[in-house]
Amino acid sequence: MPERKNILAEKQAAQKLLGWYDRHRRVLPWRALPDETPDPYCVWLSEIMLQQTTVVTVKPYYEKFLTLFPTLQDLAAAPDDAVMTAWAGLGYYSRARNLLKCARTLVAEHDGIFPQEESALLTLPGIGPYTAAAIAAIAFNQQAAPVDGNIERVLARLLALTTPLPKLKAEVKTYAAQLLEPDAPQNRLYDNRPPHTRPGDIAQAMMDLGATICTPKRPNCLLCPWQEDCAAKRQGIEETLPRRAPKKPKPERQGTVWWLENEKGEVLMHRRPEKGLLGGMMMLPSAGWDPDNDSTLRDILPHDWTPLAGSVVHVFTHFRLTLKVERLILTPLTGAPPPFEPPAAHIWVHPKDFHDTALPSVMRKVVTHVLG
Ligand code: ADE
Repeated sequence: MPERKNILAEKQAAQKLLGWYDRHRRVLPWRALPDETPDPYCVWLSEIMLQQTTVVTVKPYYEKFLTLFPTLQDLAAAPDDAVMTAWAGLGYYSRARNLLKCARTLVAEHDGIFPQEESALLTLPGIGPYTAAAIAAIAFNQQAAPVDGNIERVLARLLALTTPLPKLKAEVKTYAAQLLEPDAPQNRLYDNRPPHTRPGDIAQAMMDLGATICTPKRPNCLLCPWQEDCAAKRQGIEETLPRRAPKKPKPERQGTVWWLENEKGEVLMHRRPEKGLLGGMMMLPSAGWDPDNDSTLRDILPHDWTPLAGSVVHVFTHFRLTLKVERLILTPLTGAPPPFEPPAAHIWVHPKDFHDTALPSVMRKVVTHVLG
């Protein structure tokens, strides 16, 4: 347990933060306006999408999901493929599979209603500690303290916490939770809506502060509601926080992807197994970079494939992938006369239908590489 800082000073800072938030809060599609009640479905959907993904990237996906699946019930009833296709390009595809599992669990076991307690939310598929706290605080105004990257940075600076990441998170969580404790009555400084009655707004205010002012590089301290409270600023170390343990370089992987086209211009694809990297997404056959999913297409068709110039690079969380692309068109001239029998679980997809296919970003890059 970290040493307890001056909590009253922090609460005054929390009050200033809320004043700033009331004037400068971002308008975001999933965020209830001050006179609206948050919709738990919207809060949940946005929080899942925003994991490791920026607001700018999430916005169009969020709008698309609400158009395709306006309610939790619509999402729960949707075919898996429709959801994976709508998610294609957003990455971290286990989020989409768990999203669907969670929607179906809520409809089957909770009458389609989100539980309000952080502990109950935590039992649902795809909802970890951050998301449970975020939904409890933002959708239900429960005393919960989500800590995402922005909140981590903002509180590390306010309190000059020099513990490096990832250990810092637990420390920040303690202080974030302290901000929500009702203070002793003799210390009550506020006439209405003190910080402990606004846990959702405190969390979102710190997210907004981190996104717009207390940015990782060159924070705009002159505009910050915490300029007088910030211990890091006083010490001149704000830009060095949060500290992080030195990064290890990402391992490199290399592979080959095969673009096989039939006489109709359709391209051969297969669906990845549900579990694991890119689970449930559509892929072009490939080999060399993911040993459990090597395609044998090159052995089935030992023809003169044309290597394309250049390569496709994609950075996953745990490795950096470079793919060479080889192309073969199945015509009598190429020496591979139809009919060619695609291996099991493979299908032909025409490029005009790619936008309706659950193609992950790495495969979209391959498509652009081949078709320009
Ligand atoms: N990042 C994660 N959750 C967010 C939210 N509710 N508002 C803004 N940014 C976020």
